[in-house]
Amino acid sequence: MTDTVDEIALISVSLELYAERHGDMAHRVYKRFFELNPEAAALMEYSDEFMRGRMSASMLELFLSDEHLEPGGYLTWELENHIKAYSATTAMYESLFQSMRDVLDNDLGADWRSEWQEAWASRIGRIMEHVKQF
Ligand code: HEM
Repeated sequence: MTDTVDEIALISVSLELYAERHGDMAHRVYKRFFELNPEAAALMEYSDEFMRGRMSASMLELFLSDEHLEPGGYLTWELENHIKAYSATTAMYESLFQSMRDVLDNDLGADWRSEWQEAWASRIGRIMEHVKQF
């Protein structure tokens, strides 16, 4: 549990620094996401920037609280509607989370810290366990 709390704290600090330096990361994340996964780009072709903004806020939430990963929690609900109703795939989740980390890493440059890299990798692994079990 302490590990998770530390992990979330590190992720939170990395996001705060990003926001301070570069503002909202959403458009950068979607750009990278669509480069990594053209099928996801096609699926999201008609979504407007407001919807993408709301989705981006929910994605960040997922990284900032364990509550969302509990059985019957937000992630379960989100997987239910994305995988069943929107035809999102496990590979799309991998690409999406990778794109979040890539944007932080690339844009923060020399300020990106190895412990943030580890915290993000671990958190992505934890979330992906849920995605793969779905
Ligand atoms: C795995 C890659 C993903 C794809 C391809 C994807 C795709 C989509 C699409 C196509 C919609 C729009 C549906 C419509 O037309 O109404 C949508 C909406 C939404 N997605 Fe995702 N999604 C992904 C991951 C996520 C994740 C990880 C979260 C949050 C944890 C999330 C949260 C949301 C929310 C909250 C909305 C509704 C936004 C609104 O209209 O208020 N999505 N997503």
